[in-house]
Amino acid sequence: MAATDLERFSNEEKRNLSLGGHVGFDSLPDQLVSKSVTQGFSFNILCVGETGIGKSTLMNTLFNTTFETEEASHYESTVRLRPRTYDLQESNVHLKLTIVDAVGFGDQINKDESYRPIVEYIDTQFENYLQEELKIRRSLFNYHDTRIHVCLYFITPTGHSLKSLDLVTMKKLDSKVNIIPIIAKADTISKSELHKFKIKIMSELVSNGVQIYQFPTDDEAVAEINSVMNAHLPFAVVGSTEEVKVGNKLVRARQYPWGVVQVENESHCDFVKLREMLIRVNMEDLREQTHTRHYELYRRCKLEEMGFKDTDPDSQPFSLQETYETKRKEFLGELQKKEEEMRQMFVNKVKETEAELKEKERELHEKFEHLKRIHQEEKRKVEEKRRELEEEMNTFNRRKVAVETLQSQSLQATSQQPLKKDKDRKNFFSLPSACSITTGRYVN
Ligand code: GTP
Ligand code: MG
Repeated sequence: MAATDLERFSNEEKRNLSLGGHVGFDSLPDQLVSKSVTQGFSFNILCVGETGIGKSTLMNTLFNTTFETEEASHYESTVRLRPRTYDLQESNVHLKLTIVDAVGFGDQINKDESYRPIVEYIDTQFENYLQEELKIRRSLFNYHDTRIHVCLYFITPTGHSLKSLDLVTMKKLDSKVNIIPIIAKADTISKSELHKFKIKIMSELVSNGVQIYQFPTDDEAVAEINSVMNAHLPFAVVGSTEEVKVGNKLVRARQYPWGVVQVENESHCDFVKLREMLIRVNMEDLREQTHTRHYELYRRCKLEEMGFKDTDPDSQPFSLQETYETKRKEFLGELQKKEEEMRQMFVNKVKETEAELKEKERELHEKFEHLKRIHQEEKRKVEEKRRELEEEMNTFNRRKVAVETLQSQSLQATSQQPLKKDKDRKNFFSLPSACSITTGRYVN
């Protein structure tokens, strides 16, 4: 297409046409409202602040109800996140509200890692949403979105400055969640001190590069009020569920011997400003910022970590299919490398075992030879002994024969000379004495 054609085409695109009659798409906003009302809304608030700073009281005051609360102990070994979800209804609008408490925050002696469970919790909610998005069968329409839309950071009303724990935690959270800092229990600090404290906090946040949530000023309808309110940050709030009679009206307030602090009195504290900004004016913006800014950042980092990218090194569009193929090749390459390594390892192991077996065989052989030598020696000794014994037996037998011969001779002589019998018998018993000694040796 020539350049002039392109110009003409885009000019044509921009042409404004007036319609002849009422078509009806001006009802689109109403359709959206009706659909959203039917669907209901979800809003998730994270409360971070020291134990007993007034988190639960402020939540009860903000939503004008009594949420279940249990006091946290000061002896938690780590910070833990406790989410609780409630279904609220105002007019015909349903709100699924989740309040997440950072239980035990600021109670540990070593607070270096206090921010970590909070960051992990926020990331887990993003991860759950991402996993739902990446599913083949997604059900985002009725998915309970648990991503944190706002973090109310409760600052202790010291009147001095922010603690390093506050600065570190807010810095770690600012890229993950919309932070609205608030000075808690603002009735415990004087008006002039509060003014100075607010200025100090803001300057510390700026000098430490902590990005807090700024009420949007791009929408004309709320630009003015939002820019005024941005100047009031951090809001100094008072919470109370107690009702006190002021004039002829019951108002929520904190009663002291010297007077009454009215929660909804703007000259007493910024509670109304907070409620206005958080719920009535900017709730939708907080939800949108969570999705378009914080979740988008998480998603981008996560997908890049997984190897997905929009463009290749030559800045050419890189499709999901190409990414998949590249990753697959990478994976197969790694698999092959691992296989080769394992094979090499196996060969080395076999070689080692073979050498060990050879060494064992040599040792056994040596042992066998040694035993064989001992056996032969023993055999030789036994043979010698046997020979000796045989010789002894032969000697014995010879003597035995000699004795028997002598016996028979003497018997013959006795039968011929009976008168000499006694004398000969004497000779007979004295003669074989050596023989009996020999026999005795043989038996032994
Ligand atoms: P954990 O959940 O146990 O960490 O406490 P929390 O931060 O939820 O504090 P909680 O709302 O339970 O309040 C603790 C105490 O502070 C209670 O006695 C409240 O009455 C009191 N408190 C709450 N808000 C205010 C406030 O604005 N000013 C003053 N002076 N006291 C408050
Ligand atoms: Mg509480």
